[in-house]
Amino acid sequence: MSDLFSPFSLKGVTLRNRIAASPMCQYSATDGFVNDWHSVHYAGIARGGAGLTIVEATGVSPEGRITPGCLGIWTDAHAEKLEPIVRSIEAAGSVPGIQLAHAGRKASANRPWEGDDHILAGDPRGWEPIAPSAIAFGRHLGRAPREMTPEDIARVQDDFVEGAKRSLRAGFKWLNLHFAHGYLGQNFLSEHSNKRRDAYGGTLENRSRFLVETLTAVRAVWPEEYPLTVRLGVVEFDGRDEQTLSEAIEVVKRLKAAGLDMIDVSFGFSTYEHQIPWGPAFIVPFADRVRREADIPASTTWNIATPELADAAVRDDCVDVVMIGRSLLQNPHWPDLASRALKRDTKPWVLSAPYGYWLERYGVAQLT
Ligand SMILES: Cc1cc2nc3c(=O)[nH]c(=O)nc-3n(C[C@H](O)[C@H](O)[C@H](O)COP(=O)(O)O)c2cc1C
Repeated sequence: MSDLFSPFSLKGVTLRNRIAASPMCQYSATDGFVNDWHSVHYAGIARGGAGLTIVEATGVSPEGRITPGCLGIWTDAHAEKLEPIVRSIEAAGSVPGIQLAHAGRKASANRPWEGDDHILAGDPRGWEPIAPSAIAFGRHLGRAPREMTPEDIARVQDDFVEGAKRSLRAGFKWLNLHFAHGYLGQNFLSEHSNKRRDAYGGTLENRSRFLVETLTAVRAVWPEEYPLTVRLGVVEFDGRDEQTLSEAIEVVKRLKAAGLDMIDVSFGFSTYEHQIPWGPAFIVPFADRVRREADIPASTTWNIATPELADAAVRDDCVDVVMIGRSLLQNPHWPDLASRALKRDTKPWVLSAPYGYWLERYGVAQLT
């Protein structure tokens, strides 16, 4: 039986444990470029012991960023700046991954701590969002996007391909396509945001066409030995959950046939009229079902905040890998904490040797 600290192999890549640092926007870039903040952040997370470290949502084009502070990979120069981050993740024994993204109708927003709302049209800091249909998300994201033309669709798919090639050249060994959380991939899949009447809207086959085509094109340039994964919103908590979930499982099967290696199960955020049942590990049962019915390795996320919950998700054979987010912001050494709590502190140490050795040899003096 596998547990949280069993290695996990997928294609030619082996993670030293089942803990993945979930992609988390830092909203701290300028013109899409990483800087000292990102260098320290990712090195710190990787040093803490996660088997996989996935760099945050990285825009495949300038208009694909959520905010002006989001990362991008639309030029070779962007990718080159990511290389030291890749090296630092690997030096800590973690596998370097990256999430490629296009924010669709949620693009051109202020940073969360500066309002989280759309930048007003005409403000030079912003840009025109594009999406399958000219329907605004609503509330704080009230700006209606421009409906994408067939040329826009082809260009964005090309941007994903170029982003994948650059990610590979930068040294990443794990690729995640962000098709969740109300961003562009999810915009196409969800009837909340897609009212198109052409080949990209209407039936499930049409609504999933952008996702399947994009994955197929990326697979053609992303090496077979490296995992190609997708984060997908499989449920919206909008009262139509069974239908949305079974549609999502169908989409995962199609993505698998097109070369998907693993599905990262999340939810849709396509409407603010939802009833999200926030609770401990509440997406795990959905991930379990997708994993079984689509017969594909899976990871999941959301509120898997204790070592016991994370361990149980793997031991109960619900998921293969657990994506940890905020717990790692609070304490990047959470994997070490988890191994101690679960009494699985083994050699090599979960923390990198310059830390792990001393903690094993002398422990830590307890403050009283
Ligand atoms: C600051 C922050 C930034 C995030 N950015 C992204 C992102 O870039 N891509 C993504 O797929 N999810 C993003 N998320 C969601 C996380 O990856 C994760 O799935 C979510 O926080 C749930 O996990 P948790 O309960 O362990 O925090 C972000 C979450 C936080 C807190």
